[in-house]
Amino acid sequence: MKLLILNGPNLNLIGSREPDIYGNEDFETMLTAWKKQYPQVELNYFQSNIEGEIIDQLQVCEGKYDGIIINAGAYTHTSIAIGDTVRAIKVPVIEVHLSNVMKREEFRHVSYISPAADGVVSGFGMKSYELAILHFINS
Ligand code: DQA
Repeated sequence: MKLLILNGPNLNLIGSREPDIYGNEDFETMLTAWKKQYPQVELNYFQSNIEGEIIDQLQVCEGKYDGIIINAGAYTHTSIAIGDTVRAIKVPVIEVHLSNVMKREEFRHVSYISPAADGVVSGFGMKSYELAILHFINS
């Protein structure tokens, strides 16, 4: 099984960015741990701060991946284009967030990705990604 974890803007700063909200763990360390823990999965990772690059990456996933785990960061709440791309591709997509976006500011309550995604995991820190990985392993 091949999965892509696709992170959007500012998620390269995880571990140092607002640790009270996003925690202290950095993404690369977690990725190494998941790769060890779930050897049956080929786990690839892509991060970009640029909306168009996220769209390009989603478009080339067709036929290459069995699933995509996307945290589009703030683009979640603004990008009709990323929502459209998720709708346009056939690869199953799970939207994840480290924080519980519904518990935060109102502008974070809107997601242009959720209506197009197969599921949403939000509020479990790094475990949000792991729960999405487990979803693909178990389905
Ligand atoms: C986030 C939540 C977004 O609202 C925010 O803009 C992020 C991170 C999360 O993982 O909790 O960049 O997607």
